Amino acid sequence: MASERSDAQDAAALDRLVCFEDFHRAARDVLSASAYDYYRSGALREWTLAENERAWQRWHFVRRSLVDVSVIDTSATVVGQRVEFPVLIAPTAFHQLATADGEVATARAADALGTIMVNSTLSTVTLEDVAATGAPRWFQLYVFTDRGLTRELVERAVASGFTALVPTVDTPTIGIRYADQRNRFVLPDGMELANFAEALGTTAGGGSGLRAFSQQFDQTLTWRDLEWLSGLCDLPMIPKGVITADDARRAVDVGARGVVVSNHGGRQLDGDPATADALGSVLDAVGAEIDVLVDGGIRSGTDVVKAVAMGASAVLVGRAVLWALAAGGQAGVERMLGLLRDEVADTLRQLGVPRLADLTPDVVRPVRV
Ligand SMILES: Cc1cc2nc3c(=O)[nH]c(=O)nc-3n(C[C@H](O)[C@H](O)[C@H](O)COP(=O)(O)O)c2cc1C
Repeated sequence: MASERSDAQDAAALDRLVCFEDFHRAARDVLSASAYDYYRSGALREWTLAENERAWQRWHFVRRSLVDVSVIDTSATVVGQRVEFPVLIAPTAFHQLATADGEVATARAADALGTIMVNSTLSTVTLEDVAATGAPRWFQLYVFTDRGLTRELVERAVASGFTALVPTVDTPTIGIRYADQRNRFVLPDGMELANFAEALGTTAGGGSGLRAFSQQFDQTLTWRDLEWLSGLCDLPMIPKGVITADDARRAVDVGARGVVVSNHGGRQLDGDPATADALGSVLDAVGAEIDVLVDGGIRSGTDVVKAVAMGASAVLVGRAVLWALAAGGQAGVERMLGLLRDEVADTLRQLGVPRLADLTPDVVRPVRV
């Protein structure tokens, strides 16, 4: 049993996890079946979920040999904020399903590795508790039909020192996921949507399930409303879930300082293109004006370097964090992020581009079929 294991045993077990698949297997061993399914699954037939991973494999590198790679610099600047390496923590719901400290553990790991945690509206600890860790932090926002509640969330994020607002634009309601339907997924007793336990009641998300809860997301929301949103505070706004050039333009028109190219990890519209395939058109449309980030299917340091070479400022990782959190809590996420950072550094060295900031699109090419 986990509780009988010593710290040394835990550390040794963690040391043997060296890649995404290892963390995935370790997480599956410890999570309840319904928590595992909730984290893993995608919308409907999960085509987009699978495409996200495949699409990064459809690119190869064009390396430069005999370049002085004795000093490597993986640092990046994302919407004016420096990170040690270009991997941010994507907003994902319900971290207490993976570890008792929930999002606090994740935030501490982000801080230890010098990157930013994007905290989900649907966190199982309050945004104030995440802020108390002192970790670099952005706030992901779902807009509720109750605009007073939405405004209050933004005000709390500002008051507690979050440095960017990340409204998610791909979720009019939470997607249909067969596994969650079969499991009748609800939050276990004792866990809650901590950010609005008072406003919506502590059973929010429980009882009738998450999809029913998400009926409270505002389905009338338009780009116009994002202007209203950005008027609520001075934080830079970085809409997440942009997958087309047209929407990227609309984001710029309403004052976005960055966008996240994302299909929600394949959890919303099955049939959305892979993010690696959509990234280029978004970059062409707005890449000269704002930072473009991307997430979905990032599993190794080579995926990260490909994304940055194409023109992304940074990537975000979702499931990689959840598997690591389940496998080893804060230490697990630190190990996973450290491995990714080292893989990014190694990829730059093998590629012959010592500074991440010097990556250019000519070092990646689509695989010819
Ligand atoms: C279990 C889970 C919960 C998620 N919850 C949220 C959320 O609350 N808000 C949000 O904007 N995105 C959410 N996402 C999407 C992630 O932010 C991100 O786009 C996605 O996980 C990236 O793909 P990857 O898991 O392949 O790295 C969630 C993803 C997963 C897997």
